[in-house]
Amino acid sequence: MSEFLPKGYIFNQNHLLGLYHYSADDIRFVLEQAKNFREVLERPVPKVPTLRDKTIVNLFYESSTRTRLSFELAQKRMGADVVNFSASTSSTRKGESLKDTIRNINSMKIDMVVVRHESPGVPHFLTKCVDASIINGGDGAHEHPTQALLDMFTMLQLFPDLSGKNIAIIGDISYSRVVRSNILGLKMLGANVTLCGPKTLMPAYVKALGVNVSYNLDETLAWCDVAMALRIQMERMGAVTDLFPSLREYHELFGIKMVHLDKYPKFIVMHPGPINRGVELESDVADSDRAVILNQVTNGLAVRMAVLYLLSGGIRV
Ligand code: NCD
Repeated sequence: MSEFLPKGYIFNQNHLLGLYHYSADDIRFVLEQAKNFREVLERPVPKVPTLRDKTIVNLFYESSTRTRLSFELAQKRMGADVVNFSASTSSTRKGESLKDTIRNINSMKIDMVVVRHESPGVPHFLTKCVDASIINGGDGAHEHPTQALLDMFTMLQLFPDLSGKNIAIIGDISYSRVVRSNILGLKMLGANVTLCGPKTLMPAYVKALGVNVSYNLDETLAWCDVAMALRIQMERMGAVTDLFPSLREYHELFGIKMVHLDKYPKFIVMHPGPINRGVELESDVADSDRAVILNQVTNGLAVRMAVLYLLSGGIRV
């Protein structure tokens, strides 16, 4: 057992529905395991046979590039049998319910399900329908736990400890699941979190989240060690279309630009992707050496390998 965990610690999770259900020690333990898998990825043959006898279904009801590819690659690098379900090419289009789809898949004897769905709570619902371990790959604007884990892993490559570090999360806070998982995880690891964005993109309950709120980008960038920009999640806004006047104005007020990198030499730029260049980040900022965005993607693979390993019944202590 790692020396930073309390004596007698046991990783006792069967699912990863959200960081809400994980303790600080669970998070530290997953991140510690991820370090081993990050090393595996540097090997000439970046593969381990850990999941050789496991069957995993990736159930994606929403668009995804990074998360789906990252989970699939992680599973294949660990030797699992992998099947992919995408709503657009399945019987969902013929009217089959989520419950029927999953019960049928369950009859095929699977060990784990990775699910992404536009409705919050779907991963939790699936735990009631199947025996498999469920991993949340993003449910509506609720949680995206593996994204937050890979974000924290990336920060821990930059700083030995997140305690007392200043992390700014900038942009569309209301509709982001990435922000919710990050707030939970970062607070557990002792970081100071400031949310920054237009008032219209701050949720009404923001005070209850126990974080700082700023409506001033300059002030926030002067303060932070890490600036995590978020995409404007148009697809989750439904009929609401008047939250800000234009993307151009949004960029003017809340987009991170090269002038900010010059003015505030400390902060590192992160982004979960997909980036809207020229909106939340000036294009050159995304490509600058202050951005660790592609490293986040590589780390995502290691973190997902660790989660799959632990939930498949890998060592629990
Ligand atoms: C995020 C998501 O899907 O919530 N992307 C991701 O998983 N890398 C953020 C986003 O869609 O903007």
